[in-house]
Amino acid sequence: MRHIDPATIHHSESHRYLLSCVAPRPIAFAGTVDSEGRPNLAPFSFFNAFGANPPVVAFSPAFRGTDGSPKHTLLNVLATGEFTISVVSYAMVEQISLASCDFPEGVDEFLKAGFTKLPSHKIKPPGVAQSPMVMECKLLHHIPVGSAPGSANILIGEVVMFHLRESIFDGQYPSADRLDLVARMGGPNYCRASGPAVFTLAKPTHNGIGFDALPADLLESTILTGSDLAKLAGVNQLPDLAGAQAFIATELASLATNTPDDLSTELRVGAPEQAFRAFLAGRIAGGEWCGNDTATLHRIIQGFLKKNDVTNAWNCALSEALLRQPEPTLPSSEG
Ligand SMILES: Cc1cc2nc3c(=O)[nH]c(=O)nc-3n(C[C@H](O)[C@H](O)[C@H](O)COP(=O)(O)O)c2cc1C
Repeated sequence: MRHIDPATIHHSESHRYLLSCVAPRPIAFAGTVDSEGRPNLAPFSFFNAFGANPPVVAFSPAFRGTDGSPKHTLLNVLATGEFTISVVSYAMVEQISLASCDFPEGVDEFLKAGFTKLPSHKIKPPGVAQSPMVMECKLLHHIPVGSAPGSANILIGEVVMFHLRESIFDGQYPSADRLDLVARMGGPNYCRASGPAVFTLAKPTHNGIGFDALPADLLESTILTGSDLAKLAGVNQLPDLAGAQAFIATELASLATNTPDDLSTELRVGAPEQAFRAFLAGRIAGGEWCGNDTATLHRIIQGFLKKNDVTNAWNCALSEALLRQPEPTLPSSEG
C-alpha cells in the first residue's frame, strides 16, 4: 500500500490519482452562453447526479492547471445562471475530444466540433442534438473550493427539463445498450457502458446474515472469494443441517442411476451437482477427511454459486460437518 499525503505532492499528481482511480466517470457535455449570448460547449467528467427531488446534477470546471484562469464554462454559468448537460454516447467521443480544445473566448465549440444545437425550452443555452439525453439546468449553488490552479468550482444545478431521444427507450426506461454511453478514466482511457461491459446484480430483498455470521471454515477458505462469501452471507437466516442432510441423501440415491464423470471434469463443465456426487462417491470409498477435501468442497460450493444456486451452495457448505464423519454415519441413500 502506498500512503500519499496530497500536501506533499504537486496537484497534477493528485489529479492523476483521482482521474485513474475515481473512475469510470460520466461525462457532462456542458452547453452555456456568455452574457452576449455566444454559445460555448465543453466536456467535464467531474460530474454526477445527486438527487431526484428536485433532480440535481453537479460538475466542476476547475481553474486551469496552468495559469489558474477560469474556464469559459464557469464564467458563462456565473454570468447567466444556466447550463445544459448533454450526456455523451460512443458515437460522439472524437467530437467531444475536439470540443475540449482550449479555443479562445467567444468561439462556438458546437460549430468547431460539428454538433447541432438542440434549442432549450426554459433556458437560453442549447443542448447537443446528437446526444441521447439533454438536461436543461438552472444554477442552484456555486461552491468555489479555492483559487489555486486546478482547484474545483462545484456548480450544482437543478434540472428543469429533460430531453430524451425516443430511440433510447426499451419499454418504459432507457436501455444501456441503446444509450451506449462512454465514461472517462485515467490518462487517455475511456470506457464504453454497453454490451458485455454491462452486467446485472440483483437488489437485496432482505437483510443478509452478514459475513460475521458465516462459519469460520468458509471465512478462512482459500478458494471462496469475497463475492462467493457475499452470496452465502446474503441469506436471511443460517440454513439448518436438515436441508443438507436431505440433499446428501438425494444425491447419494441418484448415484445408483447417474454416475458422474471425475470431479474436476464436472466442475470444469459447470456441473456442480454432478461434482458433488463424484465427491460423495469418493467419500463412500473412505479415507480420512483432509484439507484437500475441504478445498474440493469449496470448489463445488463455488460451482453452485456461479450458477446463483445459493441453496445448494449452503447444502454443500453444511454437509462438511456430516461428511467429515467416517462412511457409516453418512445419511442413508434411501432417505
Ligand atoms: C472527457 C473530458 C473530461 C473533462 N473533464 C473536465 C473536468 O471535469 N473539469 C475541468 O475543469 N476540465 C475538464 N476537461 C477539460 C475541459 O473540457 C477543457 O479545459 C475545455 O477547454 C474547457 O472549455 P471552456 O474554457 O470552453 O469551458 C475535460 C476534458 C475532456 C476531454
